[in-house]
Amino acid sequence: MTLVLGIVGHPLNHSVSVPMHMSAIFTLGIDYVYMSFDILPDNLSYAVSQFKKEHIKGFNVTIPYKEAIMPYLDSIDEHAGRIRAVNTINNENGKLKGYNTDGIGYIKSLKEQTGFDPCGKHVLMIGAGGAARAISFSLLEAGIKSLIIVNRTIDRAQKLTQHLESYFPEATVQALSIDNMNDIRYKGLGLIVNTTPVGMKNIKQTDIGELITLLEADGSLLDKNTIVSDIVYNPLETPLLKRAKHAGLRTHGGVGMLVHQGAESFKIWTGVQPPVDVMRQAVLRALQEHH
Ligand code: ATR
Repeated sequence: MTLVLGIVGHPLNHSVSVPMHMSAIFTLGIDYVYMSFDILPDNLSYAVSQFKKEHIKGFNVTIPYKEAIMPYLDSIDEHAGRIRAVNTINNENGKLKGYNTDGIGYIKSLKEQTGFDPCGKHVLMIGAGGAARAISFSLLEAGIKSLIIVNRTIDRAQKLTQHLESYFPEATVQALSIDNMNDIRYKGLGLIVNTTPVGMKNIKQTDIGELITLLEADGSLLDKNTIVSDIVYNPLETPLLKRAKHAGLRTHGGVGMLVHQGAESFKIWTGVQPPVDVMRQAVLRALQEHH
């Protein structure tokens, strides 16, 4: 019997997860199918109960359900529980278990494409939502020394700061508003990462490129080793990355994270390591077709 995988979110018209996972399924020749389930917020609980009944093998969870879906699951793995967000659900003998592969996918991509060594680094992260939670946990676990969280809603950045401080007392975590960049107490940022959808096609723009201008003005925060990273992958070169390149900084785009988090989810569902390069090519092709 064909096993069903998929993605749950809303809206999903720009998702390239279907071609990405189908390319791996075709290459491996295994009896799975990966489908898109665009579900309205009011129907989420019913949809999850139906998935359980219909023996759906597993699914990804994306905007805006990474936190909202957690109460409907039977169990949550330890890492996802600490983050308090899930992006992967696996049906294990009729019980749904939540996982989070965003952080591991992000770090894999960052290391692979830039050689970034998190140990002892200062990092500035834009955003405090589900993706930010996963990425900040993974960066702190990998040994960064300090983290500044900049978010449109400062309250949310402060809540995440407190949560992270309780798990990583040896690191310095600080919530700052974009107007307070001169409060940064140290020199040399190793990494600036955007975890918000700002810069994504069809998303209202706020100028986070302006942040680079503010940091540049300080003179001691950026240097030739600073990496500017964006988890947005459509367009491939976001306005933030364009601005960073213009400032002579190194850049890292979002396709690698998408592919690696997807590959980690695929392993959880099937027990098989998927062909990551095939998945990357499928994503790039789908993005070109979307254009
Ligand atoms: P995800 O699970 O994908 O991270 P989320 O939990 O809704 O999604 O978080 C989205 C993040 O992007 C938040 O940090 C959000 O800022 P707020 O906490 O102020 O809402 C940020 N974000 C979304 N749209 C934005 C915009 N137009 N300008 C600035 N920040 C934005």
